[in-house]
Amino acid sequence: MPYQNTPHLIDETPGTKHYCTCGESANKPYCDGSHETTGKTPAKAEIATAKQVAICDCGKTGTSPFCDGTHAK
Ligand code: FES
Repeated sequence: MPYQNTPHLIDETPGTKHYCTCGESANKPYCDGSHETTGKTPAKAEIATAKQVAICDCGKTGTSPFCDGTHAK
C-alpha cells in the first residue's frame, strides 16, 4: 500500500499511538508491522486528549507523524 498524497484526518483517542511512516501499513494511519523491509520505523506519539489530528501519509512532513502541508507544495 503506497504513500498517498493526502493526510489521514482522524478523531483520535488519548493514549500512546504508533503511526505508520513507511506507507506500507494496511491499517493506516497506524503501523501494522509492514515496515520491516523498508528501513523505516513507526512514529510514536502521545495523545493527551481526544482531538482531531492529521497524520502524514506522503512521507515528507517535517513534523512527523503529523501533516505539515508539505504534500501540497
Ligand atoms: S507499517 Fe509503516 S511504519 Fe510500520
